[in-house]
Amino acid sequence: MVAQRRGAAIEIAGLCRQYGTGPGAVVALDNVDLRVAPGEFVCLVGPSGCGKSTLLRILAGLDHQTGGSIKIHSEGWAVENAMVFQESGLFPWMDVETNVRFGLDTRGVPRAEADPRVDDALKLVGLTKFRHHYPHQLSGGMRQRSAIARAFVTDPGVLLMDEPFAALDAQNRVILQTELVRLWEQTGKTVIYVTHSIEEALLMGDRTVIMTAQPGRIKRIIDVPFPHPRDLMQLSASPEFGRLKLDIWRVLEDEVMRARAEMEQ
Ligand SMILES: Nc1ncnc2c1ncn2[C@@H]1O[C@H](COP(=O)(O)OP(=O)(O)O)[C@@H](O)[C@H]1O
Ligand SMILES: [Mg+2]
Repeated sequence: MVAQRRGAAIEIAGLCRQYGTGPGAVVALDNVDLRVAPGEFVCLVGPSGCGKSTLLRILAGLDHQTGGSIKIHSEGWAVENAMVFQESGLFPWMDVETNVRFGLDTRGVPRAEADPRVDDALKLVGLTKFRHHYPHQLSGGMRQRSAIARAFVTDPGVLLMDEPFAALDAQNRVILQTELVRLWEQTGKTVIYVTHSIEEALLMGDRTVIMTAQPGRIKRIIDVPFPHPRDLMQLSASPEFGRLKLDIWRVLEDEVMRARAEMEQ
């Protein structure tokens, strides 16, 4: 089995990110505190420009904070993060298998160890038959599956996902959401999942973190009470789901309006 390590715990304290200085400075994140338990699936929602991607990039080590701290704890092994973006980010000149293996190659994992891990990761996302296809020969859903396989193959402590299914059509989105929740249920990875969709957050996560319009702060954290394993279609049709969706929209509405007003200024 490719994913053996349980997810890591994350402690974010007083996190700030300011871009630039002086009157043109943008405060993307302002004093964000968040604790994530090992194996938790946390969704971040908030209006465009509220700093969701910034937070994820800082967690991934692709950007740095200008204040505050992040601690990622795990039991006795070096924590690695893996990131999945809206665009799959696959190398177009490599087939699926080579794309998935890439992260292991760059870490110097020997071929004899890498090959079975790649096989497992491809099996996990149902792409074994397509391993020799190139990205342009795949549908959008298959490309995102490949990106997920590439993330899982490194057995990361934390999976960071930035609107990974936003560019898919509605049917494919449901399929991929279902698959990701199943993978998460199987592997116990810690997931931080950014979305602008309340429904997506409620379908997939244990908690929904609602952010304010810029500067991005945490406005409210909602526990999502639906038990696992989840049947996403059934869940989305339930009255409890509808009620919680409306509750969250009420919290988010002001922020969306505020973000819009600022854009129109
Ligand atoms: N590299 C950067 N330089 C300057 N401003 C940035 C940079 N990255 C993000 N920002 C600004 O920070 C804010 C938050 O951006 P982002 O994290 O992408 O928001 P979200 O993902 O929630 O839509 C936005 O106002 C954006 O313009
Ligand atoms: Mg973003």
